[in-house]
Formats: sequence, C-alpha cells, structure tokens
Amino acid sequence: MAMRPSRRTLLKAATATGLAAAGLGTAGCGALTREVSGEQLRSRARLPAPFRVPLPVPVTATPTRGPDGTDHYELVQRAARAEILPGLRTEVWGYNGRFPGTTLVGRSGRTTTVRVRNELPVPTSTHLHGGVQAPDSDGSPLDLVLPPGYASGAGSSAHSGHGAHGSQAGHMRTRPGDWTYSSGAKTYTYPLDQPAATLWYHDHRMDFSAPQVWRGLAGLFLVHDDVEDALPLPRGEKDVPLMICDRAFEEDGALRYPSLDPSLTGEPGVEDAYMEGVTGDVVLVNGAPWPELEVSATRYRFRILNTSNARRYRLALEPGPREGAAFVQVGSDAGLLDRPVTHDSLPVAPGERFDVVVDFAGYPVGSTVTLVNTLGTGGTRSVMRFRIARRERETSRVPERLAGVAAARAERAVAERRFDFRLTSGSGGELWTINGRPFDSARVLARPKLGTVERWRFSSDFHHPVHLHLAHFLVVARGGGSPLPSDAGWKDTVDVRPYEVVDVLVRFRGHRGRYMVHCHNLEHEDMAMMANFEVV
Ligand code: C2O
Ligand code: CU
Ligand code: CU
Repeated sequence: MAMRPSRRTLLKAATATGLAAAGLGTAGCGALTREVSGEQLRSRARLPAPFRVPLPVPVTATPTRGPDGTDHYELVQRAARAEILPGLRTEVWGYNGRFPGTTLVGRSGRTTTVRVRNELPVPTSTHLHGGVQAPDSDGSPLDLVLPPGYASGAGSSAHSGHGAHGSQAGHMRTRPGDWTYSSGAKTYTYPLDQPAATLWYHDHRMDFSAPQVWRGLAGLFLVHDDVEDALPLPRGEKDVPLMICDRAFEEDGALRYPSLDPSLTGEPGVEDAYMEGVTGDVVLVNGAPWPELEVSATRYRFRILNTSNARRYRLALEPGPREGAAFVQVGSDAGLLDRPVTHDSLPVAPGERFDVVVDFAGYPVGSTVTLVNTLGTGGTRSVMRFRIARRERETSRVPERLAGVAAARAERAVAERRFDFRLTSGSGGELWTINGRPFDSARVLARPKLGTVERWRFSSDFHHPVHLHLAHFLVVARGGGSPLPSDAGWKDTVDVRPYEVVDVLVRFRGHRGRYMVHCHNLEHEDMAMMANFEVV
C-alpha cells in the first residue's frame, strides 16, 4: 500500500494542527479546508468545448419476473470502448460494458436479485449503496467475485494483497477467515424493504475500489413505491438522473489515474501526491463531458448523485431563477423527504444523493441555464447546461407534504458512540484511520442491537464523507448547532467537514451481521479509512 511517509502529507498534517490550535479550523482558509482534495489530475487529451454533447440518460434494464414475483437482473462486468471525449475512444470497465452502468429499477417490498458476472481481469465486489440487504448480499470488500480461473493462476495474484497472508505489511489487516470468494459470478439478493429512493451500485473491492470505480464500475438503482407514485412530481422524461463525476484523460483518450500498479493486481494505492483523493479536470454527467439538456419551460425532477472518487461540489444555477429557490429538494439519500426543502446552492459530497425539482418556467425560451459547481475553478466550475427549448403546459407540482418520515425523530438513542476520522502517522507512514486505527477485518468498532437507534458522533480533520452500509440516519447536529438545510431527511452518507463534529441518529433495522462504516472519499477508503460494525 502507498504508505510510505510523504513529506507533503506530513506538511499538511502540521498545517492542520496549526490551524486547529489557532481555532481557525472551519474557516475557509488554508490547504486543508480547500474544497478540492489532493492534486488535480490534468488531462493530456484535447478537451471538448463545454455543452456540445447532449446529456445521455443511462439505459434502463428490464428484469425477468420469477414465478414467486421476484425480479431478476443480470449484469456482466466487462471492458468496453466508449466515446466519452468526442472523436476519442476510452476503455471503460462497465456493468454490461456501460459507463454509467445499466440502470436497475426495483419496487419497494419486492425482492430483486442481481447476478453479476465478472469478465474483468481483476476481482470485484458489487455493493448496493443505500440498500438494506443481508451481509452476504451487501457487496463487502471482503466478499470477492474472482474472474473465472483467477485463483488458480500461477503465483496466485488473486490473493496478492487479498488476505491469503492474513494481513498486509503496515496497512489494512485482514484474516483469511474473513474473506469469501465466488468464482466467475455471484447473485446478490435485495429484499428492498425500504421506501422509494435513488440508490446506486458500485465496485467495492478491498484496496482497489477507487481505481475500479474510476474505470466505470458504477450505476443507478432506483427504488419506486406507491407513496412516490401518488405524488404529482415531474415524471417520465422529466425525471432525470444526473450522475456527476470527474475524470482525467490521456492523450489517446484512456482514463488517467495515478495507480502504483495500473494492472490493479499487485500493490494497491496511489502516488503520494494523490493521497488526499483523486480529482480530474473533466466533469462528466451520466458519462458525458459538460453535456447539455434541452428542456421545456416546466418543472423537472433531477436525481443528483455524486459518484466522484473525491470531488465535492456546490451546485448552483447561473443565472438563478427570477423567483423562488434554484432547487426544491424532495428526496435525500434514503428516500423522499417529509416536506420539500429549498436551496439556492447545494453541497454534494461523494456518495450523496439529492433528489430535486428545478422549475424552468421563469426562463425565456431560447435561453440557457448553467449548472455550476461553485467550488470548482476553470473547467471544473461548469457541470452541464440546460437549454430552454419550448413552452409546455405544466402538469406537475411539488406538494407541501411528500412522505411521512418525520416521526422517527422522536425515537430514542440507546447508546452513544464516537468515530474520529483522521490521518494518523504510524511506523509505515501515514494512513487514513477511524479512531486512530486502520481497517482490521477482525475488529468490530460497534455492536448495535437490531431494532434500536443509536447516536453516533463523527469528528474529522478533513472533508470526510462518512457512509454507513445497511443503516440509515438523520443528521441531528453539526458543530453542536443545527444541521444544514442539505442534511434533511434519511441519509446514508454525510459530509463531515474539517474539525467539525456531526451527530447522527442511526436506525439499525432489517438485518443482523457485519457491515462497513467508511469514508466515501474512495482513496481514503482504499487507504484504510474503514471499519466494521456488527448488528446483533
Ligand atoms: Cu458507496 Cu461502502 O459504499
Ligand atoms: Cu454503501
Ligand atoms: Cu475521508
């Protein structure tokens, strides 16, 4: 692992301590609090002018229905060529060869299975982010699908860095008994005993999630239900996912990524300069660079999700609407809100989803509106553009009440636990740690009881988007004060900002067993910022 001491990160840590001592922690100053983490990778390819490519919408798969009413999907993970930058070919690793992967659709309360076949040259694990599923279907980093014949290969690269030795030098510790392997394919079962929500699935292979997601292994999983169906929200062509991520490209169009071993079979990790996270200079929406969407002057529902490895966005519209807020949020990570929440700008950390309605009625036909990222500079300040193409009769609205989810706030926490996310120096260099320790498969940080609610307190030295598998939570405090407007609703990922303490009420329901809590900055995750909790 890339755990050699790095002068640069040591310097950073020193700066951080200085800032904290001076009480300047959350002020918008200094390297640590800047919004983009790590060096930005620069593309060597010629980049297109923005807003030339139409916004693609990922293809939706149709399940086969079993006699018991279960929906079945099949996904094949394979390499494919895509035209991301006009005129250039990019090799991607995609579900069904697509980047983003095929959109899967499920119905609340109806079991869905997904058989994932691995035709890539490396092991994978497919995690349904936001899904409430049993541990053996959760897509744990320790539960790998090996390419056919992989384990028997000479030198057994299947297990290099993958637990056969029980641990890795100076880094994440895993015991052989904590690993499970499937050869060639695995079927994941999702009961979908959860409300309508925008979930996503992505690769979660131990040590290599970041480069494998970067290569394209991410897709949408939409859950619908009767409550959502009964709402007069924009639907059909006016319900559009916006999967936002950044990338960088080589001259020939290949994806650039600073892996220590680009074959992803040997030493994991990235070059030291990227330890804080890998960001690129091209913003993609649904896999297209700075695309444009033609809209009518009516309301649209956008399911915004940030699938970037490390980049955070603050989204705004330019120009903003003449009246009303830019975004009317109707859903969070885990489902519809109780009531809509308005935002003029919307911070979106890696892993988070925001389901928003934008009303284009106030914009003249022929005009354009840019979705910008106010945390970006140069090319990364633009995300995409909307072109108001025509007037149209409005058929949708945003009702005052969406879904009845607020009652959960009254629930009582039966325990309180602290999780501190920070860079820790050890003998082998520096690691991203939780409570001072890198990931250890034998260690369980918390044993919450099924059916209870606990108060978990996250603190941090940097921007860490903290994510829990299985359990959804409500943000109840930030820095001892009120949560942000963007913290509304049930969530599975929360952006913990430098030197901030975030309190959440976590509800443990559905399944017993071992799950992960980790930072969703994927480089941090690969560099040990991960821990087990076990629902008992
Ligand atoms: Cu989206 Cu454990 O991840
Ligand atoms: Cu997850
Ligand atoms: Cu982090």
